[in-house]
Amino acid sequence: MTATLLFLILFLLGLALALRPLLGPKEPFPEPPRREDLLRELEVLRAEVEALEGEEKKLALARMVALEKALEGYRPPEKRPLNPLPVALALGVVVLLGVGLWRYTLPRLPGETTVTQRAEARELKALADKARRTGAVEDLLAWGQRAYALQAFDQAAEAYLEVLKKDPRNVEAVRRVGILLFMGGRLEEAQMFLEIAQHADPKAAEGWLFLGNLYFQKGEMDRAIAAWERYLEVGGEAKERVEGLIAMARAQAQGGKDGQSVYLARCALCHGAEGEGGVGPRLKGNPILKAPEAVREIVLKGRGQMPPVPLSEGELAALLAYLQGL
Ligand code: HEC
Repeated sequence: MTATLLFLILFLLGLALALRPLLGPKEPFPEPPRREDLLRELEVLRAEVEALEGEEKKLALARMVALEKALEGYRPPEKRPLNPLPVALALGVVVLLGVGLWRYTLPRLPGETTVTQRAEARELKALADKARRTGAVEDLLAWGQRAYALQAFDQAAEAYLEVLKKDPRNVEAVRRVGILLFMGGRLEEAQMFLEIAQHADPKAAEGWLFLGNLYFQKGEMDRAIAAWERYLEVGGEAKERVEGLIAMARAQAQGGKDGQSVYLARCALCHGAEGEGGVGPRLKGNPILKAPEAVREIVLKGRGQMPPVPLSEGELAALLAYLQGL
């Protein structure tokens, strides 16, 4: 009798234990992913990202950044809470934050421009239509100027090249094409255009600025400093920035090969001496720096308006280490 009772009790206990997951209160949301799962996904992505192209690659890189972020702020899942309402609220906040971060850490599309305002886009289209219709130099210039100002560089290039076909001596077009070539990383051609333009119109400040940038990027510090000094002489507006550039070039003319000098020599021009941003996006505090593989990829292969920057392995390693601490 006692044995049967004991057996019955044990049996019921076992049954209860076995059924507990089914009988217990339902979990309103799935558990957050575990650290190992995140790590595994990151590993898979790292292995695959090399082979990907275009849009897929962009998404993979973005996902990697998101994963690294998630891993950084990882906390083990909390014990099952009693009241589902705060949990739902907390999860909602986390999801919102996640979506926000995801959106803001998405690398921009190659060639994407700042023409986001509809009105501006419409205005630009009207100018383009008119210029294409009349083919007149002044209309083409109006289109090129507006496109350049809105950083719609593809259109600016199209407009100014068309001007050059009609009027090869138009100095503004020569200068702007030079600048656009420089932005596209075609330094030799850019130099030719910009030197011609600055010879013809030495009063144009922006020409000196970019010519200085170009010499700087080629490592010709003395010529870079001279061009930037001309920029200041003709009253260029970005006085402080260019004085900073001149100081940087002077330092660089003597500097060694630590990460910071590599950065100052090869990146600072576009991303700012302290990573604060310029032609290129802000790097200081940029979550992409937490994904050194992605940065390496961007540096060596270029992206959108950013030209590839060939670096030795040693320079690259020093640079990536420096960027980590930025
Ligand atoms: C000629 C200007 C220029 C130079 C030089 C340059 N960059 Fe860039 N960089 C850009 C531009 C423009 C972008 C935006 C590209 C895009 O997404 O269209 C960019 C994007 C980036 C990004 C991606 C940022 C993000 O938030 O998506 C990183 C990282 C980066 N650059 C690092 C570097 C490093 C490191 C160097 C030096 C080795 C460097 N860049 C040199 C212009 C430059």
